[in-house]
Amino acid sequence: MSTQQDNIFQQIISHAKEYGFVFPSSEIYDGLSAVYDYGPYGSELKKNIREYWWKSMTQLHDNIVGIDAAIFMHPTTWKASGHIDNFSDPMIDNKDSKKRYRVDHLIEAKADTLAQEGKKEEEFALLQKMDNLLAAEDFDGLKQLILDNNITCSVSGTANWTDIRQFNLMFKTEFGAVAADNPDDNIVYLRPETAQGIFVNFLNVQKTARMKIPFGIAQTGKAFRNEIVARQFIFRMREFEQMEMQFFVRPGTEAEWYKFWKEERLNWHLSLRLPKEKYRYHDHIKLAHYAKEACDIEFEFPIGFKEVEGIHSRSNFDLSQHQQYSRKKQQYFDNDINPATGKPYGNYIPYVIETSIGLDRMFLLILSNAYEEEKITKEDGSTDSRVVLHIPAKIAPVKLAILPLLKKDGLPEIAQELLASCKPYFKCFYEEKDAIGKRYRRQDAIGTPFCVTIDHQTKEDNTVTIRYRDSMQQERIPISKVKQLVLEAI
Ligand code: GAP
Repeated sequence: MSTQQDNIFQQIISHAKEYGFVFPSSEIYDGLSAVYDYGPYGSELKKNIREYWWKSMTQLHDNIVGIDAAIFMHPTTWKASGHIDNFSDPMIDNKDSKKRYRVDHLIEAKADTLAQEGKKEEEFALLQKMDNLLAAEDFDGLKQLILDNNITCSVSGTANWTDIRQFNLMFKTEFGAVAADNPDDNIVYLRPETAQGIFVNFLNVQKTARMKIPFGIAQTGKAFRNEIVARQFIFRMREFEQMEMQFFVRPGTEAEWYKFWKEERLNWHLSLRLPKEKYRYHDHIKLAHYAKEACDIEFEFPIGFKEVEGIHSRSNFDLSQHQQYSRKKQQYFDNDINPATGKPYGNYIPYVIETSIGLDRMFLLILSNAYEEEKITKEDGSTDSRVVLHIPAKIAPVKLAILPLLKKDGLPEIAQELLASCKPYFKCFYEEKDAIGKRYRRQDAIGTPFCVTIDHQTKEDNTVTIRYRDSMQQERIPISKVKQLVLEAI
């Protein structure tokens, strides 16, 4: 990441905090690493993105239904899914102090020191090397990087390191108030993905919603990972939200459905009028042993091209594993006629195509794409600037700001009447205070697509000035048309 990109990213983070989008969690206690809270405008934007996804999955696709599964699941779920054995990241121990470190923490601490010494280029280079080695799971290379950079233990002061070993990313906690004879019997995990809540409910949903293959189950909800690389604001968090959909198909049809969902999901992003040139697919070459095909949809964030969503052809791995561990059949009876045999397809464990997108990451995508520091040349030739969020109107936290020009002469009463007629339909904001230019700027900074000003002319001819956020153009329209204009745009 260049210094300029880093600056833009830092400006977005500051803006998100200053304007009530995202705050560090428990900030009065200096925050909690990689955990964030959403403020008044952030929680609206996040809810709008979630709803936009949910509607497009469960309302626009007749063959997808939703669920809302619990965060806690039976611990065997995670044995069956492979998370207990395989969901891990690297750790290293100092042989003299016996202190254990997460490899990324050690290297990041060194990078921080370089930054404090003003060695920005060296800092970026070190973090870049670390990210590449972590992605390649090159533990020898990571240890060498620690040694080459003379990274020492803060307790012993030595570089007497063990080899690097894996560390599981799942958070554990104890379940129930009664102590078990074996403490391990009380352990439950905070789910590291929402997908397993869908798999274990496959037959419940199929039977109760009377679904026929092919069909999908969608879910949004929190997931938790004790991430080791967690320094990129809400890009990588320890508590985050996923929007996942598992699509169950007849074995042999997975390739065509994978292709369908790969295109469909990119189209979903583009339906928000996000720039196509900032998107690309990254097809996975190295696949999990059960995966048939997998790709990421990547977006060009200020920190470079990064994954926002994954599309995975997961074979029948998950349902087969749950069948084996639970000893409960996870089969579907397909009574459609197989043209090759003239008989029904019969019983099988369906194959699955998964689409999995991080809600917080999508939020960051929207925010970083929307953010602009714009230079404005006025009619008299003088210049000014504004910070504006070009958030798509459909998902903007506030859709319409209603601003009486003065606090008197009956203007607030007219404005309140307009507010009352619009607020059942979409989120509005009402403000009487400050000069109108200042009020416009505040709305630009939170991404409100429309502002309406009520002035003395309104009293004469029932028209208002509507101002468009992106172009800053203004026009007069009848007050009776405002609601419809906003509804059409969203
Ligand atoms: N069920 C499949 C699954 O969880 P994943 O690639 O690990 O796959 C899917 O995660 C998506 O969840 C990612 O594309 C990303 O958007 C989001 N995600 C994963 N880890 C995250 C984290 N630590 N913080 C924020 N979002 C995360």
